[in-house]
Amino acid sequence: MTFPTLTADEAAALIAERDIIGFSGFTPAGAAKAVPQALARRARAEHAAGRPFRVGVITGASTGPSLDGELARADAVLFRTPYQSDPDLRRKINAGEVQFFDMHLSMLPQSVRYGFLGRMRWAVVEACDVRPNGEIVLTTSVGATPTFCHTADRVIIELNRAHSPSLHGLHDIYEPLDPPHRREIPLFNVRGRIGETVVRIHPAKIAGVVETHLSDECCSVAAPSEIHQKIGRNVAEFLAIERRRGTIPSPFLPIQSGVGDIANGVLAAMGEHPDIPPFEMYSEVLQDAVFPLLRSGKLTFASTTAIAVSPAMNAEFLRHLDFYRPRLVLRPQEISNHPEIIRRLGIISINAALEADLFGNVNSTHVLGRSLMNGIGGSGDFTRNAFLSIFVCPALQKGGRISTIVPLVSHADHSEHSVQVIITDQGVADLRGKSPHQRAVLIADRCAHPDFREALHTYVERTRDGQTPQTLAEAFTFHQRFIETGDMRGVTFPPRH
Ligand code: COA
Repeated sequence: MTFPTLTADEAAALIAERDIIGFSGFTPAGAAKAVPQALARRARAEHAAGRPFRVGVITGASTGPSLDGELARADAVLFRTPYQSDPDLRRKINAGEVQFFDMHLSMLPQSVRYGFLGRMRWAVVEACDVRPNGEIVLTTSVGATPTFCHTADRVIIELNRAHSPSLHGLHDIYEPLDPPHRREIPLFNVRGRIGETVVRIHPAKIAGVVETHLSDECCSVAAPSEIHQKIGRNVAEFLAIERRRGTIPSPFLPIQSGVGDIANGVLAAMGEHPDIPPFEMYSEVLQDAVFPLLRSGKLTFASTTAIAVSPAMNAEFLRHLDFYRPRLVLRPQEISNHPEIIRRLGIISINAALEADLFGNVNSTHVLGRSLMNGIGGSGDFTRNAFLSIFVCPALQKGGRISTIVPLVSHADHSEHSVQVIITDQGVADLRGKSPHQRAVLIADRCAHPDFREALHTYVERTRDGQTPQTLAEAFTFHQRFIETGDMRGVTFPPRH
């Protein structure tokens, strides 16, 4: 079957006001680019003519400026889930102009299949190849795209010539059966392959193909700052000690590492540490730091759902595709983040926190309990099910005006039951086997910056009764002081009552 060739504007014209669309993309990697830009143009034209035009936007995770940014700026987003990181979309969400709901990424595909999020009219999917029999070869991410292709009424393909068709073979497409028919997911090691290399749909579902030549919009990653390097060294040293102690098996366990600059610093430090043996990754995103580790042999294999790298690293990846091919697999996010697999493989998860409290609760998503940063992403999938769950952050933010260690988090994403270790540039608090009181003393001593240590100790010491030394009337004193003065420093607590 040959598919109609469409311009991006012709494809956008097929989509109706309030349609729900599943766009490919997990980070800017593999995100649809041309049709969302055309949809934004259409929305602007409709609005100018006095007509409403908004669509429901579902993706694997965050995307690039051509998707989230363009649609947000055109006021074309009816709702957004499960994750985002675009500055303009974030502004609209925090202004109450876009309804966003934050979801565990592993759960999104099943929610789509069951119709929890409404009927998906369209999947708009980037591919590097599409075959007459309906086989689609995805590009640099898988995310939830297979589910979108299977669930949506119609599919529009962005056939992106900027991606080489030789990416075929990197993907392992597998969708579990839904309850009550689900069985075990037959993946028993990081390297296993359990699915197909293509997404297979009935060709009649394909409404048309839009040819593009657009690179992924992944940003370059800055070299790790001194603080990030220090956090990285603290993580690497902690893992090396745990291995020597025998709490981590000697052949080591697969690593999941979050997104952002801290994550790059952590991986670089692990690469350099002499007592960390060659290891594997079972993660959701591969950033730049992963590729030198694969080249050096320190990283022996990486399983992911997205390759989100800078343009320079993307060029290196394509140049040496034959080297990387047997060392990589791209899976659907339902598998890369699946609780069953994470628990089975014994993952060591390392994710970044905005703030952590004295008891080990972590806030990954909301500044001052109110403004969304990005979303929970996969951090909950991994943390809750990891063999060893670690959170990292600098002890200070915003030039020292914010302590990331606070008496009580202003928004809770990960509870004390799931968070086992907190690591900052100041040191390591291993919370395993510690009561809330013991945790509080340890976190204040080891993780907080000296500017805030005394205040945190005072907070704990003032309350002796109860399982958790918490004083509700004062739990947000740090945050309140920041709201009032723009600086948490100088925070004090009234005399003991
Ligand atoms: N209060 C206010 N602002 C804070 C803050 C706090 N407690 N902690 C961090 N910030 C700000 C930083 O100052 C920085 O702001 P800037 O962009 O204006 O410079 C921004 O948040 C990002 O912080 P940074 O220290 O650069 O860390 P990062 O890039 O590693 O991001 C998270 C940290 C938590 C935002 C990011 O890891 C995230 O979104 N996590 C949730 C999803 C996730 O974990 N996914 C991975 C699963 S695989």
